[in-house]
Amino acid sequence: MLDLDAEVLRDYYREVIGWAGSLVPTEPEIIDLGAGTGTGTVALARHLPTASLTAVDVDEEMLDRLRRRVTQAGLGDRVRTVRADLDGEWPPLGPADLVWASASMHHLADPARALAQVHSLLRSGGIFMITELDGFPRFLTDPDGAALEERCQTEMARLRVESGLHMGHDWGAGLKAAGFAVEGERRFEICLPGPPSPEALRYAQVTLERTAHRLADRLSPADAAALAGYARTLPDRTDLTVRATRDVWIGRRP
Ligand SMILES: C[S@@+](CC[C@H](N)C(=O)[O-])C[C@H]1O[C@@H](n2cnc3c(N)ncnc32)[C@H](O)[C@@H]1O
Repeated sequence: MLDLDAEVLRDYYREVIGWAGSLVPTEPEIIDLGAGTGTGTVALARHLPTASLTAVDVDEEMLDRLRRRVTQAGLGDRVRTVRADLDGEWPPLGPADLVWASASMHHLADPARALAQVHSLLRSGGIFMITELDGFPRFLTDPDGAALEERCQTEMARLRVESGLHMGHDWGAGLKAAGFAVEGERRFEICLPGPPSPEALRYAQVTLERTAHRLADRLSPADAAALAGYARTLPDRTDLTVRATRDVWIGRRP
């Protein structure tokens, strides 16, 4: 799903990676926190050919995937991986010129503690770039489908709050409180018109299936059946669009 996200939203990723690249010195040292399958790590390494990168994640399976991707891209000499639970003791990671955290900060149990840790491992003048999302993208455009998707989004948001995720957190305020100067804050409203590419169709299918699975015991039987119906017939649809929101914050350590 992470890989499909990067593939389908590639124009947004290109813009944000370019923005990050414009803020760092030559030969920057970069840390990707909660690197997942490495979409950010690899994009940053490609965009900044003199950068050294450290990809950190708690999940060994993610890091395995990331290492395979890095090797395939011929970037192995510039990327190292560190397995660490960022809710526990942080391993020595710095000093860094850029810390990149894409869709990962909301997972951490104590945002203020994580922000303070990042502040301490950045060089003076170093950048912390946080990107976050408001939920899964929306795909359906017919009125019934769009309304169903909206009900699912509301329920998913409740589920995330109940599981302690910090979606919707004010990272700008958090950065300031941790001693960063907030140098940028931007919302990307992404809307990719139809007809959907094969990747967008696949992304829609995976998203709807995952939503159905996660909300299995929370949706009404009628909504569950409708969602399953959409997931089944998606490959034949030409009326899908991809609508997503991404928020980006840039904090600089003075
Ligand atoms: C939604 S994924 C984002 C992955 C990647 N940054 C991207 O944009 O594709 C969140 C990642 O944060 C990692 N993560 C969650 N909690 C973590 C923790 N306590 N310590 C380290 N990594 C964590 C997960 O394993 C997952 O790979």
